[in-house]
Amino acid sequence: MRLETKFFEEGLRILHDESVDDVVSEYMDSAQDESVMLFNIGDMVQKVKNWKLKMPRVKPFYAVKCNPNPTVLKVLAALGTGFDCASKAEMRNIVDLGVNPSRIIYAHTVKPKSHIKEAAALGINTMTFDNESELYKVKSVFPTARLVLRIRCDAKDSQCNLGMKFGANPEEIEPLLATVKALGLNFVGVSFHVGSGCREPHIYYEAIQRARDVFDLANSLGYSPYLLDVGGGFPGNLGTSIDEYAKYINRALQEFFPDDDVHVIAEPGRYIVASAFSLLTSVTAKREVEKKDQRKKMMYYLNDGVYGSFNGILFDHQTPKPIVIGNALDEKKKNIPLFESQIWGPTCDSVDEVIKTEMLPELNVGEWLLWRDMGAYTLPSMTTFNGFPGPNIHLVVPYHTLLLEDILNDKGQAALDKCSPLEPKGNQCDYPKIPSTRNLFEKDQDCHLMDQVKIAANITTLRVLEI
Ligand SMILES: Cc1ncc(COP(=O)(O)O)c(C=O)c1O
Repeated sequence: MRLETKFFEEGLRILHDESVDDVVSEYMDSAQDESVMLFNIGDMVQKVKNWKLKMPRVKPFYAVKCNPNPTVLKVLAALGTGFDCASKAEMRNIVDLGVNPSRIIYAHTVKPKSHIKEAAALGINTMTFDNESELYKVKSVFPTARLVLRIRCDAKDSQCNLGMKFGANPEEIEPLLATVKALGLNFVGVSFHVGSGCREPHIYYEAIQRARDVFDLANSLGYSPYLLDVGGGFPGNLGTSIDEYAKYINRALQEFFPDDDVHVIAEPGRYIVASAFSLLTSVTAKREVEKKDQRKKMMYYLNDGVYGSFNGILFDHQTPKPIVIGNALDEKKKNIPLFESQIWGPTCDSVDEVIKTEMLPELNVGEWLLWRDMGAYTLPSMTTFNGFPGPNIHLVVPYHTLLLEDILNDKGQAALDKCSPLEPKGNQCDYPKIPSTRNLFEKDQDCHLMDQVKIAANITTLRVLEI
């Protein structure tokens, strides 16, 4: 099926030579009470391009849970990534976008029976497991499912440890595979997740080495696994890099899985979307409180808080940092004094604290603060507690991102679907020959194609693109 993403109709701001920072003032509307989330589509496209450059063998399957904003999903679908879904609603959502089910992995080791049935009905065949009870469920409702064993290998230093809840320990692996065999189920591969926001790139090397041992064990039981899933955990904030992660992963793949017959995927969430979203909040009210040393301390109340866009403070161990913009920034440049400031969200609850203490110039009601790296694990876990609605989302896109062309014909798209890494060896075809986006961009820039491209209002469709 041909994919067409119709997101431009929602209205978007095209960036020519400007950066997102240059245009934030256009969104600081004093007549508006809600916060504003700016989604820079170009940032996400660059992330996918960079991934393919750094880890060409590892196909990204975006972790939908991280940010299921419809434009995020549509653009990624058009870019040809796969998807990691954790529930029947997520699977249905992605299939409804027109994504071929062969580009979806059901990557949750604990699955309600009805969700397994839904996967079967949708044609999503590949799913993870890490415990025996799961195998009996699969046996009863989807006995031909392609099973991927999630093993445990934790980074010591990560933002969110997942190993305490998921992943088979070394001593559990052999009995689990024996049960798979006894039940006559279909074992196809190994996955792991070292922890979200992993700060130890070298752990991927160790995890891939352990996965090799499981492949060998499965071979000895008569299975021929063909899928390795290196999970998520990659950093995505501005100024971070996946270079070190790629170094360890590429090296481990070369050493332990030199044969291309083993397909390699990953489930990045944070990496893809974190830096693409910036939040603008305004000051709804302020209070001045005295400190013991007579220096005043400020309390500010914003139009967004931990029940809204800042819920990652509670759920994702996030520590957002405010950036002063507008009038207050101009004042700051003049070396005016900074005051100890505490920042609260808008609700009636005192758990709604965004910043305990930060040195800031004095802000006035109606002034705005900018918060970067707000794209990961923010929007999906938001509530409307107390009736506060959350941010208005606006799209911005650098001009060169608009230059994406329809370079895959229907035949190419069909081939791309058939080439999903989740398909076993026999079902694979050669990847279609597709010009790289890099060349496309260079060509566009050199030839000043600007005049030839129908921009802004006229462009409503971004066609399928493999980059
Ligand atoms: C199974 C699974 N895969 C992928 C991810 C995405 O991880 P990250 O955002 O760290 O890349 C998660 C996050 O919780 C997960 O549970």
